[in-house]
Amino acid sequence: MSTERDDVLHSWCVQADWDAPTIVGGAGAHFFDAAGRSYLDMSSLAECTNLGHQHPAVVRAIKAQADRLCFVTAAWGAEPRAALARALLERSGFEGGRVFFTLGGADANEHAVKFARQAGARPRGLVVTRERSYHGASYATMALSGDARTATQVDPDAFGVVRVPPPYAYRCPFGTDDPVDCGERAARHVGEAIDRAGAGRVAAVLMEANAGTNGIVAPPNFWPRLRDETASRGVYLIADEVMSGFGRCGEWFAWQRHGEDGRPDLMTLAKGLTGAHLPLGAVVLSRDVAARLEHEMLYTGLTYCGHPLACAAGVAALQAYADERLIERSRTLGAWLYRELGALKARHAVIGDVRGGDGLFAVLELVADRASRAPLAPWPQTPPPLRQLLRRALDAGVSFATRGNLIIIAPPLVIAERDLADAVALLDRLLGETSWS
Ligand SMILES: Cc1ncc(COP(=O)(O)O)c(C=O)c1O
Repeated sequence: MSTERDDVLHSWCVQADWDAPTIVGGAGAHFFDAAGRSYLDMSSLAECTNLGHQHPAVVRAIKAQADRLCFVTAAWGAEPRAALARALLERSGFEGGRVFFTLGGADANEHAVKFARQAGARPRGLVVTRERSYHGASYATMALSGDARTATQVDPDAFGVVRVPPPYAYRCPFGTDDPVDCGERAARHVGEAIDRAGAGRVAAVLMEANAGTNGIVAPPNFWPRLRDETASRGVYLIADEVMSGFGRCGEWFAWQRHGEDGRPDLMTLAKGLTGAHLPLGAVVLSRDVAARLEHEMLYTGLTYCGHPLACAAGVAALQAYADERLIERSRTLGAWLYRELGALKARHAVIGDVRGGDGLFAVLELVADRASRAPLAPWPQTPPPLRQLLRRALDAGVSFATRGNLIIIAPPLVIAERDLADAVALLDRLLGETSWS
């Protein structure tokens, strides 16, 4: 009899290499396989199960909505859709704005670009994005992303994309060792890129506000400076909060760390929006952007825009974040985690840099040589000793995520303190036992 291994085309892997256990259940920060093994989820799977697995209130809300109404298109009203839009506008302080619902992060980013172009009357306006960024794997979002893995598949010029270097302080493309200077120069460079293209031809700047798949966490001065550079040129700023939202970076939305100085014109959401219990994405538009679209025809849509079941999951998820004070919890545990990872760095020369710590999101960048910062493997390859470390962690019942030379630590915000401490202790041991050369 054939199995999933034979029949399913799996993403981001070589098919012949895929050989994963079948997961049959979960609770809190753990999930369980068909053989009865339990795994501590140190990456919230794809940095999306922020509420943990099978959050009871979210599961209850999905069941209740399924009993009442599974689906109606956006041509009709739906109670959970209205409730979720209201809750998002309130949480983000985008009063007077509007919410467009999608099925995930990539289509949220595509639609944010469409809306920015339409609102700014620049239908084919340029979009400035970062090298080493990830905004999705549809064609348009591959073009928007600065991702080495997919770079050959798409022509960014054809999608009107202009790339700029990232605020990657550890390897600053602007040649400075000072993180604040790196953030300043990276933001200034965006302004210069807009000027070079001509501000009237640029529809938007799209960037991750903090956490992202490529493991770069910008210095804190970057985002507010980016806001200045875009606002002063009349260019919309789109915050991709698909990963950084919903407590991952210690705030509901990562830009909120900078208060009003960080407020974007549009932001995109997915992942933590339902805690991944059902697929859902969203674009939140400011009052100004929404007003510009108010009397214009919107030539776009998705059959499942604002699906009632997914929106009911979203309403329950937002309630759970608030009821269980998970945003604050992420901030507190994130600060603890960051300190502990700093201590690991002092013990293990293979750790070149520790980033993050605003919430339960942290990145360890591994190096072959700390003094020269030589990477263990050329980006985006994952070095074999790191693969081996992951396998051993999995054998010990802990699932860590890696990308290239990075270990990304982003557990569900509900993780027990004891589990978090045990996972860090395991990492400490395995880093010491692995032969890195
Ligand atoms: C920052 C960011 N934007 C967009 C996406 C794409 O989201 P989706 O996979 O739901 O299309 C991701 C997914 O990892 C992401 O991390």
